[in-house]
Amino acid sequence: MTAPASQFETVSQENRVFPPPAAFARQAHIKSLEQYREMYARSIADPEKFWADVAGELHWIQKWHTVLNSKNAPFYKWFEGGVTNLCYNCLDRHLHGATRNKAAIIFEGEQGDQRVLTYADLHREVCLFANVLKSLGVKKGDIVMLYMAMVPELAIAVLACARIGAPHSVIFGGFSSESIKDRVNDCQAKFVITSDAGYRRGKVLPLKHTVDEGIAECPSIQKVLVVAREPQKQLHPVTMKEGRDVWYHEAVVGQSRHCEAARQDAEDLLFILYTSGSTGKPKGIMHTTGGYMTFAYLTAKYIFDLKPEDVYWCTADIGWVTGHSYILYGPLQNAATVVMFEGVPNWPENDRFWQIVEKYGVTVFYTAPTAIRACMKWGDVWPQKHDLSSLRLLGSVGEPINPEAWMWYHNVIGGGRCPIVDTWWQTETGGIMITPLPGAIATKPGSATVPFFGIEPAVLSDDGQDVRAGILAIKKPWPGMMRGIWGDPGRFKTTYFAKWSGKYYFPGDGARKDDDGNYWILGRVDDVVNVSAHRIGTAELESVYVEHPSVAESAVVGIPHELKGQALISFVTVKQGKEAGPDLIRELNDLVAKKIGKFALPEKIIFSADLPKTRSGKIMRRLLRDIAEGRALGNVTTLADPSVIEALKEKYSTTES
Ligand code: PRX
Repeated sequence: MTAPASQFETVSQENRVFPPPAAFARQAHIKSLEQYREMYARSIADPEKFWADVAGELHWIQKWHTVLNSKNAPFYKWFEGGVTNLCYNCLDRHLHGATRNKAAIIFEGEQGDQRVLTYADLHREVCLFANVLKSLGVKKGDIVMLYMAMVPELAIAVLACARIGAPHSVIFGGFSSESIKDRVNDCQAKFVITSDAGYRRGKVLPLKHTVDEGIAECPSIQKVLVVAREPQKQLHPVTMKEGRDVWYHEAVVGQSRHCEAARQDAEDLLFILYTSGSTGKPKGIMHTTGGYMTFAYLTAKYIFDLKPEDVYWCTADIGWVTGHSYILYGPLQNAATVVMFEGVPNWPENDRFWQIVEKYGVTVFYTAPTAIRACMKWGDVWPQKHDLSSLRLLGSVGEPINPEAWMWYHNVIGGGRCPIVDTWWQTETGGIMITPLPGAIATKPGSATVPFFGIEPAVLSDDGQDVRAGILAIKKPWPGMMRGIWGDPGRFKTTYFAKWSGKYYFPGDGARKDDDGNYWILGRVDDVVNVSAHRIGTAELESVYVEHPSVAESAVVGIPHELKGQALISFVTVKQGKEAGPDLIRELNDLVAKKIGKFALPEKIIFSADLPKTRSGKIMRRLLRDIAEGRALGNVTTLADPSVIEALKEKYSTTES
């Protein structure tokens, strides 16, 4: 697993520096570089004391006896002996005093419908939902799969699971039925919560129908709870299976509004979230209760500088980790008002984001570079139609942000006055790891800048030496870190801890550290591609292609893409006597849509008689990337058959996307 050489050569020449605006710094939680440095030094010198103090700000039914147990590293344990409930910390804690009737969730539906749930409303709805789950037989420890529209019931259902101690596993609504099947079978979930349908770009998504197809071969499933997107009208015909399927609006009748929060051990499983890695099989990333809770709480508080009057909007989907940590658990623990949006930035028109910012007076806005680049392309006229003066802080996540997009975000959206927090983290890290603190850290376009409290990163060579540009490592455990891969502890150790002999966490990203100590994330060094901030394992696509009877072999690579960040290019060789043409392209695309989801479709499929390989038969992806990017070819001396490359170059330049 080596990084493509070109990746480390693209060392940015960006020198612009933006100090935190004085007015922002004055009111910020962390007000100066000195304050950051002092707290950071403390957090590294005595992490156990630092994190115990943070956890102490939250509600525990029983206090922990050990902050960090490293005996069985890398299976670290945090807050051992502690008993708590994350849903309680998100809701019940805020039911006294002024926050009781404060808006917790402001929901904007794709059709322009809106709903506001105060903390008291949300608490009531979560208790009702939790009681419905209990009435269906969901017990502490039972895994509940969710495949829903981005509606308040998704937030309610997730919090209800946390309340009763049933680990949730949310599947993003863009995944196909096959992906649902694989995930349910992997974790042997007994329950699914879904919506009858959802809206996407004005069209109706048949979510329940997709679930039905997905779980047809999932014997573990006992019940399917169906939430109607609009109970008064049927958006899409739904078949309810007798004895298995239950409408939420029927099951909730007569339920109690009270539901005690379960006693959760700090290390009880909170959720599983599947993500792509460098093999064909997605990994069920496990997060537990106490450490994740503490980390989500503190990162949200300081990085988004949350204050009681903020209107905070993270545009992610709850199906991704960003939605877990920074739509739900982080902001709600901070008693924030959270905007939740069902739709996309360009429907019905290109100003949907800015219209919502103006409508609700959003103060803190967190989105992905791919969305920023798309908005930039549509032009300044769209944001200029709206009053964006409520904004005070902007955030970016999911992929490296190019300086041009950063500058546009800063000037056109932030009016030149809002700091930008470029936050680097992953599903596995549970929360933000490298980021500016907006009142304390000077920002540089394209740099995620400095580590958060308690996080000790390094840039290392393959053999563990400190280098300026190399591979990112995290040297010490932190409370929000993943606790394992569901059902595969061995894979957890080899994927994340084998690189430097078990010493450090290996996130799979390249990085560079500049003279000021700022980190610049350079992208993945493994076979994971980040398309529009969605993580896709190239091996997943490759294993789909070879299921097609005409395909002999394939190799998928990621290349830079102006809007998506990266795009997928698939190289496919067909079996002898099989036709490689437009029909096969269509069939292969259909197969990917069916097996994974449409968002994983490649930009181009190139048919080739052969793939460039080393003499030991290993596909040389580096050369495929060079070809796809039209670059001079790197070292070709290890190539078994050099003529393959010339044929491929010719083929690539003549294939339309
Ligand atoms: O490559 C990094 C990139 O996204 C990967 C994690 O993807 P995922 O687990 O889906 O989580 C996305 C949301 C946290 C990382 O390994 N990435 C994420 N944030 C940034 C980033 N790359 C550069 N800069 C970032 N701010």
